[in-house]
Amino acid sequence: MQHREAKIVLVMVGLPARGKSFLARKLARYLRWLGQDARIFNVGSYRRERIGQHKPASFFDPQNPDGNRARQRVALEALEDAFSWLRGGGQVALYDATNSTRARRRVIAELCHREGAEVLFVESLCFDRTIVETNVRETKLMSPDYVGVSTEEALRDFRERIAHYERAYEPVDDSEQSFVKVIDGGRQVVVNRVDGPLLARVVALLLNSRLTRHTIWLTRHGESIYNKERRLGGDSPLSPRGEAFATALGAHFTPPPPGLAVWTSTLQRTVQTADALGLPTTAWRQLDEIDAGVCDGLTYDEMARRMPDVYAARKADKLRFRFPQGESYLDVIHRLEPLILELERQTAPTLIVGHQAVLRTLYAYLVGDPIENCPHMTLPLHTLIELTPNAYGCDEKRTLLTRAVEERHSIIPS
Ligand code: F6P
Repeated sequence: MQHREAKIVLVMVGLPARGKSFLARKLARYLRWLGQDARIFNVGSYRRERIGQHKPASFFDPQNPDGNRARQRVALEALEDAFSWLRGGGQVALYDATNSTRARRRVIAELCHREGAEVLFVESLCFDRTIVETNVRETKLMSPDYVGVSTEEALRDFRERIAHYERAYEPVDDSEQSFVKVIDGGRQVVVNRVDGPLLARVVALLLNSRLTRHTIWLTRHGESIYNKERRLGGDSPLSPRGEAFATALGAHFTPPPPGLAVWTSTLQRTVQTADALGLPTTAWRQLDEIDAGVCDGLTYDEMARRMPDVYAARKADKLRFRFPQGESYLDVIHRLEPLILELERQTAPTLIVGHQAVLRTLYAYLVGDPIENCPHMTLPLHTLIELTPNAYGCDEKRTLLTRAVEERHSIIPS
């Protein structure tokens, strides 16, 4: 991990509707999940707040001196705020604006260096017009800039705004030091002079991110014998209730969505659960449950009685607490990192049959919840979580799949 004190500014570059904000949000979510303090400074929001929402395309005309001055002012204000946030202990500022001319980027780089912050330009280029069109329709027309404006008028105005920027746009060139160019949503990625472990992670995410959006389902395995006994870890098989859940899961995915990928851990309770789908599965060691070390196989009560210090320490800081000879939640996050990249590369819908602690950390990444919440999240057994990405995050639906069985036992599993 990068030295805690390193200050970084990721400067987004690109014409409007090239997915800069989408990338910035994704990067911020990833960095926060890795434990970094990351924050987005979006110049569009500053403009709306300080100058007003409904600015016609002519405001963005490079020949309009008033518009230019006003835009430059808010851009510098946002950058200044980023700097004061970094001075106050922030680590990675994502400066989200078009930053479309070399002159503007030179000033930004200069100011960042004066501030002692490293700069990486992250440029999004789209030669594929269909990507731009989809972006315009899916995100820009919903923008606060066009509240109360007809779709037709908004489209006309926004295209004119893009045309203004296109006239002045200068792509990042080799002399501009550290940069990553993401072309056509990741079909091609160009990396220039990127150094340091944290920036290497930024590059890894950008290399693996795909534009295609697909649903991800998360579920814990069916109830296991150890779950019934409230024991930690182990590799026990499913209980009869767990088997009923596996059958219900199989029925839920009949017929399966086209191309559905099914991932499990290497432990038999997840493999057995996924077997009911009758589809090929991939077993990942990274998805194995948190290693409870010396507590593996104990019940929570036994742990409290036999190792009160361990129990108390875990209760005091469950995120950082590492089981003797085992893992902490933070360790789980680190071992899941390659799997996240694999998940980002997926172009098909994916079902992950996992375990409580591991799914809590995956869920935190997918929905952007702070990692501090991970160890305390409620992810009950026998509940299917469906996450469908939208332009700004994802929609979530939870379904208890074995309602009939649960009601018969009059318990909601934990
Ligand atoms: O109880 C099921 C289980 O998956 C255990 O194997 C594991 O140790 C535990 O959940 C993790 O949850 P927590 O961190 O809340 O103890």
